[in-house]
Amino acid sequence: FCPNNIRVEERIDCYPLEDTNKDKCISRGCYWCGESSKGEKQDNFPYCFIPKSHGYKQISVSDTNKGQRVTLERRNTPSWFGEDINRVVIDFEFQENHRLRVKIFDPSKERFEVPLDIPSPNTKAPNPLYRIELTEEPAFGFKVIRTTTNQILYDSTIGGMIISDKFLQIAGKLASNKVYGFGENEHPTFAHDTNWKRWGIFARDQPVSPTNLYGVHPFFTSIDGSNMFGVFIKNSHAQGIQLTPAPGIIYHTIGGILDMYFFLGPSPSNVVSQFTEAIGRPFFPPYWGMGFQLSRYGFNSLQNMSLAVQRTRQYGVPLDVLYGDIDVFRDNLDFTYDEVRYAGLPEYIKKIRGEGMKYIQIQDPCISNGEPAGSYPPYDRGQAADVWVKEFDNVTNAEGKVWPLNNVFFPDYSKQSCQEWWIQENIEYRKTIEFDGIWIDMNEPANFAKGSTKGCRDNPLNRPLFKPKIMGDTLYDKTVCMDYETVLGSQYDTHSLYGWSEAEPSLRAMRRATGKRSLVVSRSTYTGAGKYAVHWLGDNKSQWDDLARSIIGCLEFNLFGIPYVGADICGFFDDTTLELCTRWHQLGAFYTFSRNHNAIRQQDQDPGVHPTLATFTKDVLEIRYTLIPFLYTLFYEAHTQGHTVMRSLMEQFIKDSETHNIDKQFMWGSAILINPVLEQGASTVDVYFPDDRWYTWSTGVEVPFRKQRSIISAPLNVIPIYMRGGSIIPTQVPANSTFYSRKNPLGIIVNQGDLDDSVKGTFYWDDGESSDSIESLKYIYMDLEFKDNSIVGTIQHSNYSSGGLFFENVKVNGLQVAPVTITVDGQAHTDFTYNQNKVLEITNLRLSIERSFRIEL
Ligand code: GLC
Repeated sequence: FCPNNIRVEERIDCYPLEDTNKDKCISRGCYWCGESSKGEKQDNFPYCFIPKSHGYKQISVSDTNKGQRVTLERRNTPSWFGEDINRVVIDFEFQENHRLRVKIFDPSKERFEVPLDIPSPNTKAPNPLYRIELTEEPAFGFKVIRTTTNQILYDSTIGGMIISDKFLQIAGKLASNKVYGFGENEHPTFAHDTNWKRWGIFARDQPVSPTNLYGVHPFFTSIDGSNMFGVFIKNSHAQGIQLTPAPGIIYHTIGGILDMYFFLGPSPSNVVSQFTEAIGRPFFPPYWGMGFQLSRYGFNSLQNMSLAVQRTRQYGVPLDVLYGDIDVFRDNLDFTYDEVRYAGLPEYIKKIRGEGMKYIQIQDPCISNGEPAGSYPPYDRGQAADVWVKEFDNVTNAEGKVWPLNNVFFPDYSKQSCQEWWIQENIEYRKTIEFDGIWIDMNEPANFAKGSTKGCRDNPLNRPLFKPKIMGDTLYDKTVCMDYETVLGSQYDTHSLYGWSEAEPSLRAMRRATGKRSLVVSRSTYTGAGKYAVHWLGDNKSQWDDLARSIIGCLEFNLFGIPYVGADICGFFDDTTLELCTRWHQLGAFYTFSRNHNAIRQQDQDPGVHPTLATFTKDVLEIRYTLIPFLYTLFYEAHTQGHTVMRSLMEQFIKDSETHNIDKQFMWGSAILINPVLEQGASTVDVYFPDDRWYTWSTGVEVPFRKQRSIISAPLNVIPIYMRGGSIIPTQVPANSTFYSRKNPLGIIVNQGDLDDSVKGTFYWDDGESSDSIESLKYIYMDLEFKDNSIVGTIQHSNYSSGGLFFENVKVNGLQVAPVTITVDGQAHTDFTYNQNKVLEITNLRLSIERSFRIEL
């Protein structure tokens, strides 16, 4: 029973998540290498594992227009959960040179497939970066191989393939133990622990912890040599993974089909760009979304809300966006406001908007059904249009309990009439409160009643024989019953798509209501949601671990195609401390979504509550605001080319294996290196400087470190920031909101690279708020380059009138020799200085951002 030809590392668990013993093990036809025949827990490597001969045998192989089709038949081995699918087809579609699809399905029956359209061309890609290899013995398996290196990226001959109605599993051996992604889940390292670590994925209203959280993103990347590839498994069911030291990955899900998309890179940036090409490029946020944002659950009155804004401004801390949480509502009812505690809210919002701020209002997907007749029109109209999620009979409305006092119905956003209702309710609400964006929360969907106010029936949808490693004793814990229905399908199939299905109509609603680009902030997301919404990492705690781990969450969402992301600055639950909150603002100033948010009943934590906090927050936010033209340009490039914005050092320097495990530092694009202090009491940071030249943000002086670590001083008022050699960064004089900073003089920072290296950057600009700036080509896009002692701006596209904005200041860091003369577009320019830090600063320029220019040194 215990063969010695299977390495322990390559075992595939025969009893995932269950205790087993020799007898149980043998009854599944598996190998047993345990100590005794008594029940034993398999916390680590499995004692009971699947023989390689289990699985399927190959019946036929044929070429198709798209690639290859293989037909398989299940071997006669004991069944795990019954309802085995005996005949299975695998279509290998060579979709693009960089994209391979492996679709494993039941040819005799349609099963649920995620309605995310990834183009499936009718022809084979001409020069694929991959080839596949099929193996017949001891059971069918396939390998995906990178042609340029002959490296096997994914090898399913490791065994363990099981395809049944409610348990589908595939395992693959990987080229390395460097695996990133698979969310949403909180964990301590960016590169996953591959020592038999297991976790589940299923949308859940769950405070940040190492379990399945709000979003569902079955996408991972892995390193092969100094290349990277990514895999998206298009499945929305409750699912789980186990990473093994093979190194390998065991994936299982409880429904749908196994539909894998391989993205070949070869660079990490290529992988993300290829992935977002398939699933949809990320949403392009408005310019004001680049600014700092203030929120809290439980301001509890307009007075407290306005005081927080006032103290933030009083210290000169930049602030762009204010949020209204559910305490703004009357009795937690969407589309209302409390006319006692928040008397004057509409006028107040009008006033701060007049002063250049924006306002975002929460709306939850739970509509109270128990208000006195006629007193709550949003419900009445929803009822008239029959917009709700249904019970299993597809007739009765699913009833749950969320924030309102009475029970609630859940909108079915996949239903046309619901989308129209949602849009109209937002338009209607905006007549009272002039919000600029919507915050869609609780959309897992969350339900405080288990399943429904009546519970759930006992059937295989609500209680399947196998439940992946997800929180709660049943699938419907904290949500609605799995046999409940939406237009998209049963909750069993579509639960994790609920937030995704809310995002698109919410963006449409916002665009119709505001007439502008607007912003949708969503808690639950599925792959592809980044097209419509941005994400925050949910309910964290005011603790140091959550501060550090938020970087990992942000980097992962950048991989998932949602580059606009951040955690609640200073922490949501629990009271924060001055030190933690200061450090959190320093890191949070470099979240792409930079928002301070707090839970009800916690002490105030807005920057103005303490003068030290206010001063240090202002300092760091002024760095952010100086960099917003650069950040906005990164978002333009994320939207058009699919790049990440918050970026791991691994992504930028994959050839340097030292970077593969770095997750306490990160970058903005390829130019800015951010090194926050993440430990209590620390006044230094251990910074790794990858192989390039690096310049200190504040002085422009080059650091004497390269491809090495150094302990950098970082007292409480400092977050060390460096600029990479070879980069050019557009900047702007900060102000207390982007409304004003947008009008300020711009600048350019050139960071000299290694000899012969190109020194480049880009600059994007538009009106910051039109929904169609890019589609209707109303923008400016400029290439920046430093070459042959000239700084050159070359317009690629200029079809927006900036109202007279100029680059007025240019700095060159790392210039070895002081220039004698400078000409600007051929004219002598005498306003410049050069200092002992080897920094050249040219001032009093007037270079229109709408035209090309040339500065010669
Ligand atoms: C949820 C959200 C949180 C919000 C609260 C009240 O817990 O995650 O951000 O403040 O609900 O609406």
